Amino acid sequence: MPASSGAHSGFGRVDEADRPAVLIGCLDGFACLPAVQAAKQRSFAVAGKAVGREPVLDVGCGTGTDLVLWARQCGARLVGVDLSHQMLTEARARAGNCSVIQAHSHHLPFRDGVFSAVRCERLLLHDTDPAAAVAEMARVVRPGGRVVLVEPDMEEAAATCPALYTESGVLTAWVRRSFAQPRSGSAVHRLLRERGLVSVRSEVHRERCDAGTADTVLQLRACALWAHESPGAPPGRLRRWLSDLHERETGSAPFCTVPIHVASASRPTS
Ligand SMILES: C[S@@+](CC[C@H](N)C(=O)[O-])C[C@H]1O[C@@H](n2cnc3c(N)ncnc32)[C@H](O)[C@@H]1O
Repeated sequence: MPASSGAHSGFGRVDEADRPAVLIGCLDGFACLPAVQAAKQRSFAVAGKAVGREPVLDVGCGTGTDLVLWARQCGARLVGVDLSHQMLTEARARAGNCSVIQAHSHHLPFRDGVFSAVRCERLLLHDTDPAAAVAEMARVVRPGGRVVLVEPDMEEAAATCPALYTESGVLTAWVRRSFAQPRSGSAVHRLLRERGLVSVRSEVHRERCDAGTADTVLQLRACALWAHESPGAPPGRLRRWLSDLHERETGSAPFCTVPIHVASASRPTS
């Protein structure tokens, strides 16, 4: 299937019929990476303990795996929201004890200040207006409660790939095309501050990826096909990329580094 004939997955392009399974597989694969696990654990920790019987909220909960992990740590009632019907079906299967609701990040169907904490991981990457999403998170968290954002910087990750992939600018163009906010990770601190949240803290976890992982995260093969089909593409680039990838995939040498930012901040108490 040529790259240009599939649907946008947020991880590149895939055939429509395979989309849910491919997406869920990508999310599960990404969640296994050590720095991603470390970033998730930090996000649960900095969200803090729930106050009384107040629930906590995961915006863009995806498969619901994080609902299960977070519930174990914070002991609160968890609510997840996601836009995707298929993700919600998966989340209901995995996180049966949590409430899972279909909603858009820009219009959270909750009253002001009802959650002890709100976290959101890798949604802003796909959000055309991340400020609107963060404003909603800041609205529904209680005064004093934390909003926690976990986002990678995909453009920075692409820039750390070997020169064969970066020198033409094609990979950067692909990442900019694939993600609404390819630099969401580097924006999270500012987004929280600009929404009037206080005590903003941030840290970065760096995942060193081998070529196979880099292909999953950045969709290098799909990028090569896309570049091959672009007008004026130099002949031979596709062949060079694919043979280089194939060779590197047989080893486990570092190929690129994905920075994953964790930022958190509190809603002011007055
Ligand atoms: C990359 S996945 C991350 C899922 C999960 N947070 C994780 O870390 O595994 C992004 C999720 O955000 C959801 N999503 C994207 N845009 C959204 C929006 N505007 N409102 C609600 N959910 C959205 C997608 O359906 C998808 O499940």
